Amino acid sequence: MAYIIGVDIGTSGTKTVLFDESGKVIASKTIEYPMYQPKNGYAEQDPKDWADATVNTLKAVVSQSGVSKDDIKGIGLSGQMHGLVMLDKDNEVIRNSIIWCDQRTAKEVEEMNAKLGERKLIEITANPALTGWTAAKILWVKNNEPQNYERCRHILLPKDYIRFILTGEYATEVSDASGMQLLDVPNRCWSDEILNALEIDKSLLGKVYESCEVTGTLTKKMAELTGLNEGTIVVGGAGDNAAAAVGTGVVEDGKAFTTIGTSGVVFAHTSNISIDALGRVHTCCAAVPGAWHVMGVTQGAGLSLKWFREKETAKLMGVDEYYLMDKEAETVEVGSNRLLYLPYLMGERTPHLDPNARGVFFGLSAMHTKKDMLRAVMEGVSYSLRDCVEVFREMKIDINDMMACGGGGSSPLWRSMLADLYNCPVKTLASKEGPALGVALLASVGAGIYSSVGEACKQVIEINKIQEPSAEKVDEYEKYYQLYREIYPALKNSFSKLSTL
Ligand code: XUL
Repeated sequence: MAYIIGVDIGTSGTKTVLFDESGKVIASKTIEYPMYQPKNGYAEQDPKDWADATVNTLKAVVSQSGVSKDDIKGIGLSGQMHGLVMLDKDNEVIRNSIIWCDQRTAKEVEEMNAKLGERKLIEITANPALTGWTAAKILWVKNNEPQNYERCRHILLPKDYIRFILTGEYATEVSDASGMQLLDVPNRCWSDEILNALEIDKSLLGKVYESCEVTGTLTKKMAELTGLNEGTIVVGGAGDNAAAAVGTGVVEDGKAFTTIGTSGVVFAHTSNISIDALGRVHTCCAAVPGAWHVMGVTQGAGLSLKWFREKETAKLMGVDEYYLMDKEAETVEVGSNRLLYLPYLMGERTPHLDPNARGVFFGLSAMHTKKDMLRAVMEGVSYSLRDCVEVFREMKIDINDMMACGGGGSSPLWRSMLADLYNCPVKTLASKEGPALGVALLASVGAGIYSSVGEACKQVIEINKIQEPSAEKVDEYEKYYQLYREIYPALKNSFSKLSTL
């Protein structure tokens, strides 16, 4: 039997999973680390924390599993997208990484638009200039910390820094590189035009691979530290969403997934590139060679529920707080007794692209209880995910197969809301390992265990439950959703004023 490893370098921690070739979990270990917020709107992490967590989780799964290192055929890396890691000539990290949710770069986004023009940016990078993406962060360091920029010799994304630690190679792959806004996304290579206009030296960037290609092998030092064989292959891997797509079998047209983690993502595979001219959803290269994906992002999905959670009650009752919230919200009818919630706690990406938007309860009355508010929060997040699907529909992207994953995907109530609001069946999978399984499958292709990403998914991915929409609730939800869509436009200017107070 062959074994493969998936490493997911997330925001709250790094999770490493050792799978057998059928996708069964043999050993798993997660190590958490902090996120730093030195100022309002800033978000940073220490790349050394990711490196230590990777080495220690690898060591733990290898020793726990009892599997011979000779049978471990490859490693795949998944990670939080968009983060900026800068190395000096001695490969030392110059400053903390500015990560995906950091919002300090409003000025640099204007600079990018002025230098390249909004149309050109969308044409080449498939996306409008975005505050959280890497190019704007590079310009921020150039503008605000010139001494650091001067020392910089290598620019890497979070998981690609880990690749460097494991293999000594400076490399990336197309799915994550798409989120740097320096890639020519239709042609899957660095864009000289963008790099020249932004005056970023191409030699700072790593070599671009397809996600299942071998990018390097484990060094002797890393083999000794982890207990793996020197020379174990490390494939390109993927950004966390593209990795989750492979881990949920979303690798063909018509297939899509919704994940509810801190943020919420609706992701659809497209074998032809499809770009929203208004930039409301992101278009990136997929982890499947020669294919792309579109994804809509709700900034405050699981975050809204976490903000509203019943921690104390759950603790008193000795039950999982999310289970308890599901059960409570279930007792309220569709529409939460005429209460609506806008989940814009952290501004919003899809469809509004508005960092000033903020959360709203609409329709509060003296008769409402906490249960109504709880259900309204879950419904509001679902309305906002439906907004993503509406953009896909406008773009003529057909979805006939929707998976639900992430923490929120394990809630039966949330899955039924999504099925009713999308008016299509919503499925879950036997495996809960999303991104880690996805990159392990990419490694299995790189190691020659499976002949293609599609073949690996066909052999490994297993559907668990299917939630069908209910015709009656579809009609009921539709009325509330149409009202939900009227609220943001009515408040847009007020949000903007609020931000200046
Ligand atoms: C995608 C995005 C997040 C991060 C963090 O655009 O910002 O999904 O990858 O997980």
